[in-house]
Amino acid sequence: MEFEHVLVVGAGQMGGGIAQVVAASGRRVSLHDAAPGAVERGIDAIRKSLTKLAEKGGEDPDEVLSRIAPADDLVAADLMIEAIVENADVKRAIFGRADEVLPATAVLASNTSSIPITLLAAATSRPERVIGMHFFNPVPVLKLVEVIRGLETSDETTAAISALARDLGKTPAEARDLPGFVSNRILMPFINEAAYVLLEGVADPEAIDTIAKLGFAHPMGPLALADLIGLDTCVAIMEVLHEGLGNPKYAPCPLLRQYVQAGRLGRKSGRGFYTYA
Ligand code: CAA
Ligand code: NAD
Repeated sequence: MEFEHVLVVGAGQMGGGIAQVVAASGRRVSLHDAAPGAVERGIDAIRKSLTKLAEKGGEDPDEVLSRIAPADDLVAADLMIEAIVENADVKRAIFGRADEVLPATAVLASNTSSIPITLLAAATSRPERVIGMHFFNPVPVLKLVEVIRGLETSDETTAAISALARDLGKTPAEARDLPGFVSNRILMPFINEAAYVLLEGVADPEAIDTIAKLGFAHPMGPLALADLIGLDTCVAIMEVLHEGLGNPKYAPCPLLRQYVQAGRLGRKSGRGFYTYA
């Protein structure tokens, strides 16, 4: 399986980063988003990131950007990487449409943080070619791709997506399709617990994050990390863990829910646990 032309669906922080690393590998990218102006904003963010990397000897930003074309709708490609909102119904609708638009030989991948790959695959007629290709934020910097096999994902699809991840300069690690896979089964309860610690008044946000940064040598504390990920995404992931594992310990912290209700989504809305310029 060769992936010369990749359709990235969703031009938010993850879709933009994915389009960037795929284009930087020399491949052609079509970038689609449903929200007006989102692709343009995504391309601006890609330009900023490429400019930082060019200062350190990376490729000319214009060269990489010339391989990314905005797309008004889904288009035929060898591979789709979906990176839209963490909502199972919305993702299933995209997988159903992609199954009609992309050739039968194409692979349909999702960057989902937690939604079952098997559920997305069931919205298509090619479940053996549906897979989780889970990048980490910020995509141009973090080296992991968690590769998630749905119930029907073939060995050939898994091998091709792992090879692509390596070709993008990432290290693939395989996980089974159980709620939260490996990464968010571990990370999200940590973030959720930090929100409970704040809610219960055990410490203020700065103290909570300082303890994780200096005490555990994490590059950033759990509340700053939640702001980077997006609090809406954190709540959506906790809901999948809660429902999928049936254990009350995974219930999203009420403070996280309240911030999302208030529109405090983290960095992307300018305010979450912290305020951003
Ligand atoms: N593009 C290009 N370069 C970037 C970049 C981007 N988007 N973001 C950061 N960088 C570069 C900076 O230019 C800087 O480079 P130099 O060291 O050469 O100067 C380097 O990365 C470090 O950045 P900063 O100096 O700005 O700040 P930092 O040292 O605090 O690093 C960070 C920022 C990379 C975000 C780091 O704090 C970090 O790794 N944090 C943890 C992130 C993490 O855990 N992500 C996973 C989230 S979970 C997830 O993604 C899965 C999910 O499903 C929710
Ligand atoms: P985001 O909010 O930054 O961007 C999502 C984009 O999807 C928006 O631009 C929105 O307009 C678009 N969109 C929504 N519905 C659409 C549709 N039907 N068709 C086309 N575009 C649509 O979100 P994000 O942080 O980039 O997350 C995207 C996905 O990546 C989610 O599944 C999330 O769980 C996953 N993920 C997020 C992170 C993270 O740290 N934020 C890390 C790994 C994986």
